[in-house]
Amino acid sequence: MTHTFVYEIELFMRSLFLAANSQIMDSIFDHIHERRITDSQKWQKYEGKDILPMWVADMDFKSPEPVLQALHDRIDHGIFGYARPEPSTVEAILEMLERNYDWQVKEEWLVWLPGLVVGLNITSRAFTEPGDNILTNTPIYPPFILGPRFQNRSVTKAKMVLDGNKWVIDWDAMETAVDENTKIFLFCNPYNPCARVFERDELERVEVFCERHDLIICSDEIHCELLLDGRKHMPIATLSEATAQRSLTLIAPSKTYNLAGLGCSLAIIPNDDLRRRFASAARGIMAEVNNLGYAACEAAYRHGGPWLDELQTYLAGNRDLIQSFIQEHIPEIGLYEHQATYLSWMDISKLELKDPVAHFESHGIGLTDGAFFDSPSHVRLNFGCPQSTLQEGLNRMKTAVEALR
Ligand SMILES: Cc1ncc(COP(=O)(O)O)c(C=O)c1O
Repeated sequence: MTHTFVYEIELFMRSLFLAANSQIMDSIFDHIHERRITDSQKWQKYEGKDILPMWVADMDFKSPEPVLQALHDRIDHGIFGYARPEPSTVEAILEMLERNYDWQVKEEWLVWLPGLVVGLNITSRAFTEPGDNILTNTPIYPPFILGPRFQNRSVTKAKMVLDGNKWVIDWDAMETAVDENTKIFLFCNPYNPCARVFERDELERVEVFCERHDLIICSDEIHCELLLDGRKHMPIATLSEATAQRSLTLIAPSKTYNLAGLGCSLAIIPNDDLRRRFASAARGIMAEVNNLGYAACEAAYRHGGPWLDELQTYLAGNRDLIQSFIQEHIPEIGLYEHQATYLSWMDISKLELKDPVAHFESHGIGLTDGAFFDSPSHVRLNFGCPQSTLQEGLNRMKTAVEALR
């Protein structure tokens, strides 16, 4: 029997279980969608193997129905020439920013991007010369370190610290790391992988620090709608006019509405000079956003609200399941306060594994190696999946840890 066949049986058994317990299957997010037979990077990685992929950050959920409908409509038109956003698409974004963050953004501040990682690379290229430094916190989403390096710029890292069980910026480390060659602070809010949503007073400290050291703030806010427990996101650019003028804010509907493969993102750059320098560094090397990306983006920001409310509740349930399961069955693994994202940051230092990802893979679960984030003592688990899949993943983690006891 091939692994794929075994997996299909497993899927079938699981759907029978869910059907038999239909009273607990009351969310659209409980539905299991087969992704092995698709172009999914996440699932292709373990093709032919019985390993549940819980690594790269996309979810195993369908996008909201209005988004699917908008995509169908756009495809039915049948012509896919070079694209520009329609006025209604721009309007949908400006309305969303006003509605969610009370932020009055002008159309000309928007720079469309095929992805946020592109934005991190272009930022590094646009606002520094070789020899300049770019400051960021660690552990961090790898392109914060790789982006500058790909552009031959050096990165200075300031480690995050724990305040109780919550990750916070270490201001002593920030002051030690910054020098006269530092030109940019690459900031991540909400924070991947530490799952923090920074509070106003923390943002104000970032603001004061960047003003004192005359740093451009590139704020990656891709996870800004994936907040749990009713939290509210505050774009750093909304703190003051002065901060808006030294900032680039990177956003996208991609993480929230599971549209990463459609490549539609935005930089919001209020300052004319920064925007011109960014556009100039991007010229000729940055792909344009495509027709489907624009269509999905507009529909998501206009009509995705009810779906998103349900998603946030579902993700909070998954987060709670992880916390209670690990506390009860695998207390060797350390967890932190988890405020946002569907990415759980786990301290596995007590397991003393040489190659943690390989060990967990050998027990049927594929995680992301913390070493990529500058923290080899950790792994990251993507819980953007049906709860039954997550439960199976956790069972496999338990088996993997039991094998070490
Ligand atoms: C903080 C952060 N920025 C950017 C990205 C990826 O952005 P994109 O796929 O638009 O390049 C991710 C994906 O996980 C992320 O977590």
